[in-house]
Amino acid sequence: MKITCINGSPKTRRSASARIADALSAKIGGAAECVVCGAAELDRGEAPAAFRGSDALVFVFPLYVDGIPSHLLRFLDESLHDIAEAASGATVYAVVNNGFFEGRQNAVALEIMRNFAARAGLRWGLGLGVGAGGMIHAAPVGRGPLRNLGKALDALASEILANQTGEDRVCEPNFPRALYKALAHAGWRKSARKNGLKTKSLYAKP
Ligand SMILES: Cc1cc2nc3c(=O)[nH]c(=O)nc-3n(C[C@H](O)[C@H](O)[C@H](O)COP(=O)(O)O)c2cc1C
Repeated sequence: MKITCINGSPKTRRSASARIADALSAKIGGAAECVVCGAAELDRGEAPAAFRGSDALVFVFPLYVDGIPSHLLRFLDESLHDIAEAASGATVYAVVNNGFFEGRQNAVALEIMRNFAARAGLRWGLGLGVGAGGMIHAAPVGRGPLRNLGKALDALASEILANQTGEDRVCEPNFPRALYKALAHAGWRKSARKNGLKTKSLYAKP
């Protein structure tokens, strides 16, 4: 079985999507051939070759403005027919992570991916919405605040290997929402100061 994981984050370091894709690939382990390809390859238009003969396509990407990052959207649009031809028997899965705590924020992006699969004539597997992407580097996946993420990826790896479909679902960290929000606010204030701005400028109206 061949599984192709597409990391749709444009970040070259500390990408939550890269961490999720690597953790999923490690969980699949030797049970199947699992290739992880990145946004740079998508930009070069090389991805359809990597997709060839895939039994599963797993798109892992960040939520941008309640939707799909523009480079990934363009790639999906422009490569639709190439993808459909290269991986004609594949089942499509999507793992979308976002900055807000709630994993349900990703529902619209998962719906877009479901529609992409339908338009490409591919089978939709299921989607996973991962909240609090800012925590993904806080611990090893499966430990501490990332215990829920570890369990969600264990389940997803088994479903992919069994070529199963299912309901979309969400995952949030084992961490208090209020504390996550307070830490995020502190991070924004620190970032503003670093860029020579005052906290109140974060609330300025254009
Ligand atoms: C341009 C942009 C738009 C974003 N839009 C949203 C959003 O609508 N909702 C949300 O919860 N997070 C949003 N985020 C936060 C990212 O989804 C979040 O930081 C994610 O964990 C980044 O994943 P990555 O490290 O794999 O790129 C946005 C981030 C950027 C840079």
